[in-house]
Amino acid sequence: MKTVLLGYMASGKSTIGKILATEVGVPFIDLDHYIEAQENKTVTEIFNEKGEIYFRLQEHKYLKELLNSKDSFILSLGGGTPCYANNMDLLNSSENTISFYLKATIKTLVDRLNNQQDQRPLVANLSPNELKEFIAKHLFERSFYYEQAAHNIYIDEKEIATIVSDIRFFLA
Ligand code: S3P
Repeated sequence: MKTVLLGYMASGKSTIGKILATEVGVPFIDLDHYIEAQENKTVTEIFNEKGEIYFRLQEHKYLKELLNSKDSFILSLGGGTPCYANNMDLLNSSENTISFYLKATIKTLVDRLNNQQDQRPLVANLSPNELKEFIAKHLFERSFYYEQAAHNIYIDEKEIATIVSDIRFFLA
């Protein structure tokens, strides 16, 4: 069984994914880290040196590779993964695969990303006002793809343990 977590930057995909994987007893894979290990560069380096289009092509290639494997795992995607290269169709047609959208409000995402901008090339150079505008517009555009996940999990103001158990409810 493959469990896939998706959602906007800073929605908690990696944090939740790691805990879920420990509880369920399967490996955890963070797609960004997987790409970094394969390419021997950080995501920021890939964006800066090779550009976003190259990153999106590699992201699609490695997602396909993981979904084609026979292994069970919890996989957290990058915030943009669902929105490029028909990746949601790929996910939804993949056997033994279940996807969860970790759904957050703009306010939660702005609060969290305010503190984590430097690790994220797409928002690294935005002022606080620009960041809010950017997230509002970007989330609106991306929701079309995120909402194609099998399940929506609301995360605002929830403890991590609650979010994990909300997901586990569907894995039983
Ligand atoms: C991106 C999100 C990042 C990473 C890359 C692009 C995006 O992952 O894949 O910087 O387009 O939203 P996180 O959601 O883990 O930050």
